[in-house]
Amino acid sequence: MPLFWRISLFNAVVLVAATALLLGPVTVSTPVLLTEAAILTVGLVVILIANVLLLRIGLGPLRQLARAMTTTDLLRPRVRPKVDGDGEIAELITTFNTMLDRLEAERALSAARTLSAQESERHRVAQELYDEVGQTLAAVLLDLKRVADQAPGPVRAQLSQVQETTRSSLDEIRRIARRLLPGVLEELGLTSALRSLADEFTGPSLTVRHDIASGLPDLGDNADLVLYRVAQEGLTNAARHADARVVLLTLERAGDAVELRVRDDGRGVDGSEEAEGAGIRGMRERALLIGADLVVGPARGGGTEVRLTVPAGVQPMGHD
Ligand SMILES: Nc1ncnc2c1ncn2[C@@H]1O[C@H](COP(=O)(O)OP(=O)(O)O)[C@@H](O)[C@H]1O
Ligand SMILES: [Mg+2]
Repeated sequence: MPLFWRISLFNAVVLVAATALLLGPVTVSTPVLLTEAAILTVGLVVILIANVLLLRIGLGPLRQLARAMTTTDLLRPRVRPKVDGDGEIAELITTFNTMLDRLEAERALSAARTLSAQESERHRVAQELYDEVGQTLAAVLLDLKRVADQAPGPVRAQLSQVQETTRSSLDEIRRIARRLLPGVLEELGLTSALRSLADEFTGPSLTVRHDIASGLPDLGDNADLVLYRVAQEGLTNAARHADARVVLLTLERAGDAVELRVRDDGRGVDGSEEAEGAGIRGMRERALLIGADLVVGPARGGGTEVRLTVPAGVQPMGHD
């Protein structure tokens, strides 16, 4: 029965009962006698309590829905208020859930578009760095060498200094380009790309160990790219924020799924949503695109763990 009728009916019953009582056994004289006043007060209190209880129970699902509406986060999907109660409230919850389904689908599509635009933009920038800046610097290096060969002693020393600087700029540009464009991913596949990523992040103050299983099921290009980008962001965060000394990068089979973990021994994250920046949100969006599950939280024994679980046989991204 709709909520409106339930409340109206209940109120009608109470009012009819009260009237019947007044017409029957209960009498009210003027001025009111003490016992009569007591009976009326008790009756009134009973009616009020019953009303409050009815409204509470009747509107409970609505409160639940309001809570669900304020806490809904499209980056953590598949959490839905359960359809409870009946009549309009159940309808309202069902409508809300349908709206969430639609919003999630739309969001996934636009995230797929954004991410693929981002990937192709990275591709373009990396290509230009290689082709334009890289080539020019390489040519400058050659020229410098030629000039240095003909230059007198003291100038030659200075020129070799310049050569050194130019060479390290060229290396830096190539490194940036590599980071933008995981060419290794396309050339060597996920496992080698992850190993070389781990090596890239290893430096004087940080050691990245890796344990990457081979013979994992093929997850497809999209999932490989997501795994790679999540590992990259996890490692970037560990290097930038964690104050860690050792990071462990693992890729292994977990039942039907493949699981990527980036675990550091640093100062840890609080794991609250407010603390999440563009990096972690980007990881979540990428994970969503392939139906994977992402957890960023404290690691056992201190530090932070990023865990991405990718089901085998993942859906393709909405767009490529
Ligand atoms: N491995 C980590 N160790 C400690 N803190 C971290 C780690 N990863 C993330 N954080 C914290 O979470 C915040 C959000 O990270 P992120 O979303 O990647 O944004 P950004 O790296 O741009 O700051 C960081 O600013 C940092 O304070
Ligand atoms: Mg980051």
